[in-house]
Amino acid sequence: MTATPSRSATSMRTHLCGELRTEHAGAIVTVCGWVARRREHGEHLAFVDVRDHAGVVQCVVDNSIDVRSEYVVRISGTVRARPDGTVNPNLSTGEVEIGDATVDVLHAATPPPFPIDERADDVDEGVRLQYRYLDLRRSRMQRNLRVRATVNSAVRRAMEEQGFVEVETPMLVPSTPEGAREFLVPSRKEPGSFYALPQSPQLFKQLLMVAGVDRYYQIARCLRDEDLRADRQYEFMQLDAEMSFVAQDDVLDAISRAVLAAAEAVTGERPPEIERMTWRESMERFGTDKPDLRFGLELVELTDAFAATEFKAFAGAGTIKGICVPGAAAAHGRNQLDKLTDRAKQLGAKGLVWLRVADDGALDSPVAKFLSAAESAAVVERTGAAAGDLVLIVADEWATTCDVLGQLRNDFGRPPVFHGPYRYVWIVDFPMFVGTDDQGRPKPGHHPFTMPHPDDAHLLGRDPMAVRSQAYDLVLNGWELGSGSIRIHDTTLQRQVFAALGIDEAAADRKFGFFLNPFEYGAPPHGGFAFGLDRLVALLAGEENIREVIAFPKTQSGADPMTHSPQPVEPALLDQLGIRMLPRRT
Ligand code: AMO
Ligand code: AMP
Repeated sequence: MTATPSRSATSMRTHLCGELRTEHAGAIVTVCGWVARRREHGEHLAFVDVRDHAGVVQCVVDNSIDVRSEYVVRISGTVRARPDGTVNPNLSTGEVEIGDATVDVLHAATPPPFPIDERADDVDEGVRLQYRYLDLRRSRMQRNLRVRATVNSAVRRAMEEQGFVEVETPMLVPSTPEGAREFLVPSRKEPGSFYALPQSPQLFKQLLMVAGVDRYYQIARCLRDEDLRADRQYEFMQLDAEMSFVAQDDVLDAISRAVLAAAEAVTGERPPEIERMTWRESMERFGTDKPDLRFGLELVELTDAFAATEFKAFAGAGTIKGICVPGAAAAHGRNQLDKLTDRAKQLGAKGLVWLRVADDGALDSPVAKFLSAAESAAVVERTGAAAGDLVLIVADEWATTCDVLGQLRNDFGRPPVFHGPYRYVWIVDFPMFVGTDDQGRPKPGHHPFTMPHPDDAHLLGRDPMAVRSQAYDLVLNGWELGSGSIRIHDTTLQRQVFAALGIDEAAADRKFGFFLNPFEYGAPPHGGFAFGLDRLVALLAGEENIREVIAFPKTQSGADPMTHSPQPVEPALLDQLGIRMLPRRT
């Protein structure tokens, strides 16, 4: 019997290795792939496991055939149920094998530098990246690439269903005022002049709104010369979008649809609607603007409880907050507590008060004697501390107290980022300005083109630091997935924001004129968003490093061991570009 060919059938094969099941028993099939393993079986036979992207199937062949690991083969034979007791429950094809198989060797192979299976997880990453084409042969990496493709396609579909139009923006661009260091590309025609590679399509997507495109999207490659980490590469992909005639909620809804569609396409489950939280609430409760909502340990407000305190370290402090770590008292002896205090100081606190709750409910702490009965009672009541718990308290200015406790909270409670459940949250109402520069001028929180919150615009001149903006972030399990804002489309308001930033009109014209002058020709109200596809794919694939979901990533130090880039170039090439190398700085 010849089985119905599968969707992946070609002129060389009828099925994929990983597709075969008991329903194919009796069918004559041909599969192609790489030899994953060979075992001798009795005097005349050998088991050859053949792998393709869909999985591995066992083939029973004549043992005179010379095939070894990673040989490329084409195998034909009859699918049959494996004899009782030889079923392999760990293999999707484990109930069948291809019997009486004939083998065509399509390509003999040099033994690979590491085994093409899960054992390569422990191989030095530099070696994995040097032989990325072998690393990618593994089922984990094949799956990751496919999760990525699934996300891309679901996102595309969701955007198109909502009327977004895909427009490609250039890769050779001028520097844009977004903050990250840029990669520069020298111009041959104009030696001494440079393009930048886009850190995002920001400038162009806003101009597309002036152009009347109305709803733009792009799966955009972005480049930033930043220090690399688990969630950062030089090159990464954004789902980038911009919309006209919208308010903030319209943007959040549109992007939520795309993200939830992607999650559903990968996991098979539609996540619940994404909740929203103001930046202020997120800071107060979680001590960060990237809250991980998968666990509790929330920050508890104690400032007013210590309003009249005689305890020196707390008296007059701007904000006093605490966290209660259930059951942690016993595991925290003096040594551990000293280490915790050091950690808090490293994070910027002046100190850390710890209190262990004893079995009788008494507070065990060197500072307990400085606290009044009412203060101790308030700590216990508000933190909900019970016998065996550890309470940690920080007193400082608001931002420091929140930040230090937020980090301690993560130290104590945060599961690996990719562990389910997936907890998405929109953080809204970010402050318009964050901190000040060395000349005391406010610095923009998102970028200088972000629209102030409608209720706060009147404060721009008087109290800029109190102004909230219409900027928002999407956070998943404590990772920033993306950010965006409603943009300023009105030149008067833009001037007021520049003034708050200490940028006068002449400087604004010089720096941003090429971007803002087009607005004079009629900019619609607009806003947008971009999220990091690599980050979303990594979390949906259960990976904690975006390198695992990028086909050809750079190492942590920014190199590609496979292609040996970056590399010096011929002096003649530099001459053409008018570039001369300086001696290396040490
Ligand atoms: P932002 O700079 O916040 O916003 O970038 C949006 C998202 O892009 C991802 N991302 C990265 N991913 C991997 N490696 C990197 N080096 C990297 N840098 C950023 C993150 C981030 O949240 N133009 C604005 C968006 C807008 O206002 O519409 C922008 O680019 O997931
Ligand atoms: P000190 O008065 O500096 O000896 O501190 C007494 C205790 O209070 C020590 O355990 C310090 O770690 C702690 N401490 C000091 N300053 C702070 C602060 N700002 N917040 C929390 N704990 C503090």
